[in-house]
Amino acid sequence: MNQAMILGTGSAVPKRILSNNDLAKIVDTSDEWITTRTGIKTRRKAGVGEETSKLAAAAGRRAIADAGLEIQDIDMILVATVTGDMIMPSCACLVQKHLGADKSFAFDVNAACSGFLYAFSIADKYIRADPSLKILVIGAETMSSRVDWQDRNTCVIFGDGAGAVVLGGGTGDRGLLAEKLYSDGELYKLLYIENAQSMNTDLRNPDYDGSYVRMAGREVFKYAVRAMAEAVYVVLDKAQVSAAELTLVIPHQANIRIINKLRETLNLSPEKVYVNVDKYGNTSAATIPIALDEANREGRLQPGDYVLFCAFGGGFTWGAQLVSW
Ligand code: UT7
Repeated sequence: MNQAMILGTGSAVPKRILSNNDLAKIVDTSDEWITTRTGIKTRRKAGVGEETSKLAAAAGRRAIADAGLEIQDIDMILVATVTGDMIMPSCACLVQKHLGADKSFAFDVNAACSGFLYAFSIADKYIRADPSLKILVIGAETMSSRVDWQDRNTCVIFGDGAGAVVLGGGTGDRGLLAEKLYSDGELYKLLYIENAQSMNTDLRNPDYDGSYVRMAGREVFKYAVRAMAEAVYVVLDKAQVSAAELTLVIPHQANIRIINKLRETLNLSPEKVYVNVDKYGNTSAATIPIALDEANREGRLQPGDYVLFCAFGGGFTWGAQLVSW
């Protein structure tokens, strides 16, 4: 088969660690509230030299090395992000520049927290058309640049980081086996970031209140649990694989309570579900590739193991993918 297979993984997070107690000095919150409601203990906050494109390039460089490839082997770069350095050019073009990957073409994918799944899906279709391609897929965010640091509902949740995979043509049955992606733009108001105010005076938004993450947390929470579980069941059914056969589930890391509910629904033991939300918080499109890189480097994955990704985010967007490692 010609499906996309993961050849290498990498990740990069900013040096600066922000604890719950650090946040309690900025907004009216506490370590106790954040820990019990979200499972988050620390998150990373980008500084100079750690812009989204720089983190993405660092993660990409590690993934290329892990795959045993050279920068010049990369044909295409996809960056899933909602916090690129600029509106134009894409973050992917900046990553191409940082890496010196001048044989590749590059573009961004915006599907918020589900972005890595969407980008993986696009890359898979290119590889099915031409299995010789080597594609760098990155999820990278500096959410710290787009949270309102006065809003305790959001600023305690998000974090910065990047994760990457290199994809190539699958050998045997290894690679992306089944997937299902969804969007529902009717629900966009529950989780969004406005652009900068329009320069076209006719299109100015009189209610503009800044380019920050706005989230109806409780509604998003309920929808996320149900939607991700449904997506997982559809994908398992497509692949004719049972939940019990999964080696590892890597869910989007938004909230430990969402992850635990998903785990209970799928009737999985804790060691089968990867969790690092405690360390990094919600890094949006970067959560799954960062977690995958950690799991890979911990030696938790063997060839042929079933690994399942599932995500949920703004749009709404959501979905699941099953990979044979
Ligand atoms: O990645 C994309 C998808 N995003 C998600 O999946 C996020 C999903 N949502 C969540 O994870 C949770 O809804 C949150 C963690 C955002 C919030 O937890 P919650 O248990 O749903 O809390 P809530 O929003 O219902 O708020 C409960 C109370 C409120 O106070 P009152 O109105 O009951 O007096 C909030 O004002 O907790 C208050 N609160 C806080 N208190 C201390 C909200 N944020 C904080 C805070 N510290 N940081």
